[in-house]
Amino acid sequence: MPRNTVKNAAAMMDRTLHGIGACVFDAYGTLFDVNSATSPFLGDLGDKAEALNRIWREKQLQYTWLRAAQGKHADFWQVTGDALDFALDVLDISDPGLRRRLMDAYLTLHAYPDVSPALGRLKEAGFRLAVLSNGTPKMLASAVSSAGLAGKFGAVLSVEEAGVFKPHPRVYQLAVDRLGIASGSIAFISSNGWDVYAASAFGMRTVWCNRAGHKPERLPGKPGLVLPSLTELPELLSTG
Ligand code: LAC
Repeated sequence: MPRNTVKNAAAMMDRTLHGIGACVFDAYGTLFDVNSATSPFLGDLGDKAEALNRIWREKQLQYTWLRAAQGKHADFWQVTGDALDFALDVLDISDPGLRRRLMDAYLTLHAYPDVSPALGRLKEAGFRLAVLSNGTPKMLASAVSSAGLAGKFGAVLSVEEAGVFKPHPRVYQLAVDRLGIASGSIAFISSNGWDVYAASAFGMRTVWCNRAGHKPERLPGKPGLVLPSLTELPELLSTG
């Protein structure tokens, strides 16, 4: 075997997460491209499309964190709508029809192209697969099925069962309880750095699918692996 191949194989083995029974995925930003909600409306939004995507997502996440800290939970559909209203207000867009269509599009977001092949390989390799997301059960069922991923997951878990948003530890505990598997045997995979650090601080093994190439967070916890996409994931997890 050429020397480089041996070296690459050795480097890969060093990085492998061993003893994994289940892969638990974040949804928005990890499986589903949240920016795909606005893509059918680029004509209506013109040069405001990029700003709308950014403000909508930033506000949506801020509202989840603030509501969790305040103990004032409202479900993710409500929070997503509130964040959209804020973003439309900032950008001076007043169009109730467009608002409704943007919210509807959130129910049928596109999956990233690496998602389905990676899930297929992980399933074949014997891992249990689940989703753990802020989304409501209805939002998640709709996004999973419209992206053609319905048969892939053994469980689609919504924070609604915990009554609080990520990164509250009760959310990560929900996956442990519902899957009946120790936190140290769960690989939690998210594109949201803060979500990865929180799951790690909770006790899960973690993979940061760092699609956007963000810098490391300065938060409790630490990603077990950092990957540019899900394509590399199946060969870096092992049940044994
Ligand atoms: C989720 C958000 C954090 O799916 O993306 O939980």
